[in-house]
Amino acid sequence: MASLTVRKLDDDIKTALKLRAAQSGRSVEDEVRVILRQAASQGETVPMPPIPSASEAPHPQQGHARYRVTLIIGGGIAAYKALDLIRRLKERGCEVRCVLTRAAEKFVTALSASALAGTRCYTDLFDPQSEFDAGHIRLARQCDLVVVAPATADLMAKMAQGLADDLASAILLATDRPVLLAPAMNPAMWNNAATQRNVAQLGRDGRILVGPNRGEMAEANEAGLGRMAEPLEIATRALDILQPAQTQVLKGRRVLITAGPTHELIDPVRYIANRSSGKQGYAIAAAAAAAGAEVVLVSGPVNLPDPQGVKTIRVEAAREMLAEVERALPADIAIFAAAVADWRVANAGAQKIKKTATGMPPLEMVENPDILATVAKRTSNRPPLVIGFAAETEHVADNAAAKLARKGCDWIVANDVSPATGIMGGDSNAVQIFMKDRSAPESWPAMSKDDVATRLIARIAQTFSPTESISHP
Ligand code: C5P
Repeated sequence: MASLTVRKLDDDIKTALKLRAAQSGRSVEDEVRVILRQAASQGETVPMPPIPSASEAPHPQQGHARYRVTLIIGGGIAAYKALDLIRRLKERGCEVRCVLTRAAEKFVTALSASALAGTRCYTDLFDPQSEFDAGHIRLARQCDLVVVAPATADLMAKMAQGLADDLASAILLATDRPVLLAPAMNPAMWNNAATQRNVAQLGRDGRILVGPNRGEMAEANEAGLGRMAEPLEIATRALDILQPAQTQVLKGRRVLITAGPTHELIDPVRYIANRSSGKQGYAIAAAAAAAGAEVVLVSGPVNLPDPQGVKTIRVEAAREMLAEVERALPADIAIFAAAVADWRVANAGAQKIKKTATGMPPLEMVENPDILATVAKRTSNRPPLVIGFAAETEHVADNAAAKLARKGCDWIVANDVSPATGIMGGDSNAVQIFMKDRSAPESWPAMSKDDVATRLIARIAQTFSPTESISHP
């Protein structure tokens, strides 16, 4: 008998054939043989599976969903929270298709993920049922957002390197959609230089991070930075990304932001620093960019990736920061969130200062320029809205009000950074906004630094609206 050659078939029939073959685990040729055999023996037409249209095929439930999310669940104890995340995303109008790594399957099952998602769950790069038409490319591209939760150290290392040896990493390499990562790992793994290098690289590659947060670990008596962000936090961040900035409230505005600490040299190997993480300033920069502003971020040394869509200029010391800030003017809005060192060493050693028998090194301290006050008191090119921060450990309101007057700025965003609050270096913040010419401050409840940033940008945008004019025209 002649060999079987399948040619000159309509594309629709070819697709249906491939689908049917994949579903029954046969080659297309074998499937055709089965169909012919059945037709010959029964003398009737063998029904073909319905042909999915190009738009229906990947998303059978698309009609109900506002957004399509591919959720990659990595292998970590936080994987159980990814199940709750499926719910949170669905509640917000997302259709979720889950991909489990091999390690994730040790923590949660594909069955639970697919039952909660209401869609098929994928685990295998070489699955004939989904790969007959390069399913990993479909999962990577036919979605609006890829979320990785938990993003393990291993998965992030693969992403940073561009490896693609399993379904999850192949999707992450193939996708041209935004990728939101929710890292989760032991604090030692998070703080490891290799992980931090990878995180920085992923930031440069435009990947977006939510968390990790500080808190208890699954391991007994372990706590620190590495806990996965809560499902609600991840879902909220996902929606921020998915919802096209409906309100580009700062479109056409130029925003200048300082963030992070400064490092003031004592000698080539030592410096004076402080505990600022830069998180609040970075979150404000990201929120301003999301609101359509052109953003310049002048940042001291921090362990954070450059925010997306923000021109980030890295500096070390206060005087460098001032020079870059002045170079970035003019701006419509200047927000000084950096924790600038008040003093520097005037006689910093050109070589490492040695211990001497006579005791302390003869360090001479001089005051650093006050960047906020310098800009706020400019007679030319003063941004119409200048905002300072006040990190206080006591008498927050009194100190903030005094600072507002002394520095010549328009607003002071004050927060209590006494160690008990966990604000310095932490992920949440409770602020009060003191405005020039207003007696009572606005007190905002405790919220994440991202939420403070979003709300601050919205509040700033209000002052630029025609209904309320700002104090310095
Ligand atoms: O005086 P204090 O450091 O408490 O003021 C805090 C505010 O002033 C913050 O907005 C900070 O960014 C800004 N600042 C500055 N340059 C300095 C010191 C503080 O811009 N040298």
